[in-house]
Formats: sequence, C-alpha cells, structure tokens
Amino acid sequence: EKSGFEHFMLKEIFEQPEAIKNSVRGRLIPESGLAVLGGLESVEQRLRQVKRIHIVACGTAFHAGLVGEYMLEEYAGIPVEVCIGSEFRYRKAVLDPKDDAVLVISQSGETADSLAAVREAKEKGVLTLGIVNVVGSTIAQETDAGVYTHAGPEIGVASTKVFVSQLAVLALFIIFLGRQRQMSVVVGKRIAEALLAIPKQVQSILEQDSVTKLIAQKYFKSKDVFFLGRKYNFPIALEGALKLKEISYIHAEGYASGELKHGPLAVIDELVPSVVVCPQDSVYEKNISNIEEIRARHGKIVAIATHGDEEIKQVADDVIYIPKTLEMLTPILSAIPLQLLSYHVALALGHDIDKPRNIAKTATVE
Ligand code: AGP
Repeated sequence: EKSGFEHFMLKEIFEQPEAIKNSVRGRLIPESGLAVLGGLESVEQRLRQVKRIHIVACGTAFHAGLVGEYMLEEYAGIPVEVCIGSEFRYRKAVLDPKDDAVLVISQSGETADSLAAVREAKEKGVLTLGIVNVVGSTIAQETDAGVYTHAGPEIGVASTKVFVSQLAVLALFIIFLGRQRQMSVVVGKRIAEALLAIPKQVQSILEQDSVTKLIAQKYFKSKDVFFLGRKYNFPIALEGALKLKEISYIHAEGYASGELKHGPLAVIDELVPSVVVCPQDSVYEKNISNIEEIRARHGKIVAIATHGDEEIKQVADDVIYIPKTLEMLTPILSAIPLQLLSYHVALALGHDIDKPRNIAKTATVE
C-alpha cells in the first residue's frame, strides 16, 4: 500500500530512515567496533585470505558498488574492481580462485546480467558473495554466502531505499573485512557509531523536502543536466543522473567533477544546470574550483553541501544542505536530495513515476 503517499517511490524515499535501521539492526557491536554478519559466517576464514574483490552489478546497484570500491580500498586495504554485469559476463575477466572473490549487488536478485556473473565466477571456482534485497532470490541462492539488505519490498521502478540500504550493508561489510585485517577497534567503532546516527540524519534531510521541491520547479524544463561529484560522491553523481533520466526522461549525465575540463565543459551554458555534490570533505576545494569553471561558462549550479557551509552560497545558485558525517558515509546522505529532486521534476512533468516508460523494475532478460 502507498500509506497515504502519492507514489510508491515517494513512500520508499520516506521509508529510508527505517530501511537503514533494518539493514543495520543486530549487525553492529559498537563498543568493539565489529560487524556481525551471519550470512558470511560460513566463509569467514576464506574471507581472511581474499586479496582482491570484483564487484559486479547493474544500474543503481552498480553505483553502490562504486561507493563500495572507495570504502574497501580506504578502510580494508583490499584492491577492488567494479564492473557492470553485462560487460563482466562477456569479457575475459582474470579471476584467481585462491585470492579473488566476486561480490554481486542486486535488489531483486534476479537481474540476468548479474546472475550470469555469479555463474561465470562459480565456473572459475571463485568465492561468490551477494548483497541482495529479495530473500530467497536466485542470486541469493546461487552465491556461496551473502548479506540481505532487509530494506523491505521496493515497488517503485526507480530504486531509492534499497540503494541506501546497499550502502549501509557495504559499510558493515567494510567493518567486517577491515577488522579481519588492519582496521583498529577505534576506527571500527567510529564507523559503527556514525552509521548508527545515519537514520536520524536522513530524516532531517527528508524534512527539508520543500527546499528540494522549489529547486525542482526552477529546473524541471531543462533539456540537459549534469551531475558532478568526486571520490565517494562520484558514484552519487552517476546515481543522481540515473534517477533523473529514469523518471523525468530528461537527458542527464553523471561525471567525475575533475573530468569536466577533458571535454564535457564544452556542453555547459546557461541552459545546462549542474548538480554538484560538494560536501566539506577531502576534495571540497577541488569541487569548488570545478564549480567556478562552470560558472565562468554561465552554467547554473545546484550544490549539495554540508550544513554550516557559508562559502558555497557564494558560488552556487541553489544549495541543499546535508548533515556532516564520515566521508565514507556521505553518499548515503547525498543521495537523498537527488532522489527528491528527480521525484519533484517528474511530478512537475506529469509522468508516471512508479512505472516510467520503456523500463521495468527487474531486467530478468539480457
Ligand atoms: C535503478 O533505479 C533501476 N531500477 C535499475 O538501474 C536497477 O538498479 C538495475 O536494473 C539493477 O537491478 P537489481 O538491483 O535488481 O539487480
């Protein structure tokens, strides 16, 4: 049921604080900085030997995997390669059954391209893991081990609450693997405590939905939109562009902010707004200079910024604020305004938000 919301997508956006709580419930021991993941117990020793992880997924789940890459490399010291399912299944992936693991992320657990990756990895004798939402789905059954996101049923074609739950589970996964390796109890504890604070922070973003709605009404007639971000928020730029494309049908591109000067800047003019995910993190100053590059070409800027950042107001036409958290958890917060922005743009355009044209919720065929 829509529980009074106009669309399932909006209901699922507002369910995100609860979804994240459900993903994390019973899986953290903050005082010892540990994550308890029952679904990985059977392969706990084998995971200690893993030296490289291949993350395979499609669409929004692929964007979650890209965030996971930054997390795993920074906090578990494990080299990671992320690949979309439709490419992984046909390339000659170099897989070492002794050192490698393949992690497949999937809401439905039925996506054909992602399932093919599981089967290909098993053919090569490689450990296969899943982060899946639908209990008992094919990917959940066929992977050697895994973790359910427990986000509850997601009806809207455009994935929202499952995406942030995937990020929360990836954070648990990083604590689990990191503490098997060099991560200290202090760092594990810090991540755990920050993760437990996320649901309330998400709620505070949802409460400023009216700001996002006003901004959507300024730009809903745009024909081309850029989404930009760096490091942990580069995948969020990709995700924001996908959300807008999926339900508003507006052409949108997600790019690494630093990549603009290598060509895409030629597209910018006063008719092409850029949504820049620019929290006060390790690459903040770099993002500010990218914003200035855009403004010099008369591009309009919508910035996703950290509460209390006054400098951003000097360079952005519109600002949506998110609370401060660990850099690795910022994507969970920065995704929320982008979901709301796409929702309100699609609403202004009068589209069928829960069932957008041309696409289905699950791609069970190639
Ligand atoms: C996301 O909003 C889309 N619905 C789509 O990209 C989806 O993420 C992709 O098809 C993967 O689906 P899965 O997570 O069920 O495997």
